Amino acid sequence: MLRAAVRISLASPRTGWLLTRMVAWKVTLALVKHALPLSTLVRLVDPGPRKRAIDAEECARVEWAVRRLGRVLAGGDCLERSLVGYRFLARAGASPVLWIGLDRDAVRTEGHAWVTVDDRPVAETAASLAPYVEVAAFTPSGRDGGTAHDPPGADAVAAGAATSDRSSRRSARSRSSLRARLRRAARPKEIRGALERLHERRYGVETSDYVYYEELGLPTQDRLWHIPSDWGGLRRALARLDPTGDDVFVDVGSGLGRAVVVAAQFPFRRVLGVELSQELNERARANVGRAQRTFRCRDVELIAADATEWSLPPDVTVVYFFSPFTEEVFDRVVANLLDSVDEHPRPLRLLYNLPVEHSRLLRTRRTRVIDVCPAKWPAAGDEGEVMVTYQLLPADGPTAEELASRFPSQVPEGSEAWLGEYEPGYLIYKPKRLGGIAVYRPRQDRADSPPAGGAQGAAP
Ligand SMILES: C[S@@+](CC[C@H](N)C(=O)[O-])C[C@H]1O[C@@H](n2cnc3c(N)ncnc32)[C@H](O)[C@@H]1O
Repeated sequence: MLRAAVRISLASPRTGWLLTRMVAWKVTLALVKHALPLSTLVRLVDPGPRKRAIDAEECARVEWAVRRLGRVLAGGDCLERSLVGYRFLARAGASPVLWIGLDRDAVRTEGHAWVTVDDRPVAETAASLAPYVEVAAFTPSGRDGGTAHDPPGADAVAAGAATSDRSSRRSARSRSSLRARLRRAARPKEIRGALERLHERRYGVETSDYVYYEELGLPTQDRLWHIPSDWGGLRRALARLDPTGDDVFVDVGSGLGRAVVVAAQFPFRRVLGVELSQELNERARANVGRAQRTFRCRDVELIAADATEWSLPPDVTVVYFFSPFTEEVFDRVVANLLDSVDEHPRPLRLLYNLPVEHSRLLRTRRTRVIDVCPAKWPAAGDEGEVMVTYQLLPADGPTAEELASRFPSQVPEGSEAWLGEYEPGYLIYKPKRLGGIAVYRPRQDRADSPPAGGAQGAAP
């Protein structure tokens, strides 16, 4: 059967020429794929608007060649193979969709790419695709949307240019239908689960555990237990801070070190972690040791200390809290931060994930909200699951004014409630055997408006 197919291919000069060109593309893509982001690779193979009616014979030939391409530079080649298939099918007048998926259980490969035409997978079967959850899809520009689609929860980015009003309307329709399909195919929670396992493997770390203070023999008053930040949410939030080599980052309550590992991927001059539990800090050290081959920042330090007794070094410019403590403990740590900015006036930003004490922070009258973004990626869609960026200002008015002018507000539309005192509603709970509810904050829109009642569930 195989021999017969090869004979057919060699017997037809057209098929032979097609295969040669496809192999050339595949080899080129294999050489550049590690140096270029996916969106650039997709643009590179995009043949643009349809130039001819669909050529069914040519499409069949391309599909046949895609199957054979697996034998050229085989092994971990699904991306090149799919990009080539996508290009040549589109050139033959078809409307292929290039899909990127992640392994649901992260037990096999790190991800997979494939192509469908009219919902039919090319050179794949339903069984071979079953282990993957779709996270992105692309269609060629100028037809069927010409769009690079982010997974649900993130806004889609239009890549293709519409040629006329009518075609742009048609594009928008098919774009939104593809987006709807993607949304149906991929549930944010499932994607986050896949990404969680993937990142742990990629960095060689173990940071996923929930660890309760009762189990560590530590006092629980006004302190929250260990739960790690969401990898994708934190990476995106840090990118919005646009850190430079002048910035120094500290994760207050660094736990098993996940946020330190994420921050060290950015060009911070120094990255610090401060953690109350010795045991968690030891485990964080092991994690950082294993992940450091991936770090951009070479100066990473993990300190075992109680944040209430630890003085902020004067070069720190970005502080991260993933809801480590509340109430009195929170007040004491914030007072330390404000003392530091008084003694050493500088641009100091606080990125606060799950900002349970948002209103308490605003009541210091020494902070201004400069940004709000989702805490998770893909976003959870819960109003309280955000990261708010504050600027901490010195008490001295003119100095505060000058420092404030350096960070214009980038609070997105729809998040303005965070500019004032606001409780989106938090219910943070631990297992019943450990006491159940730890934080209960009913929803309240603004200090000046009546409470709306009710509470949303959210765990740190
Ligand atoms: C929700 S976890 C966040 C872990 C880590 N920052 C991350 O984002 O993956 C909160 C951490 O704060 C720590 N913590 C709580 N109170 C603290 C304190 N007073 N000083 C230092 N760390 C504290 C806890 O031990 C826990 O590891």
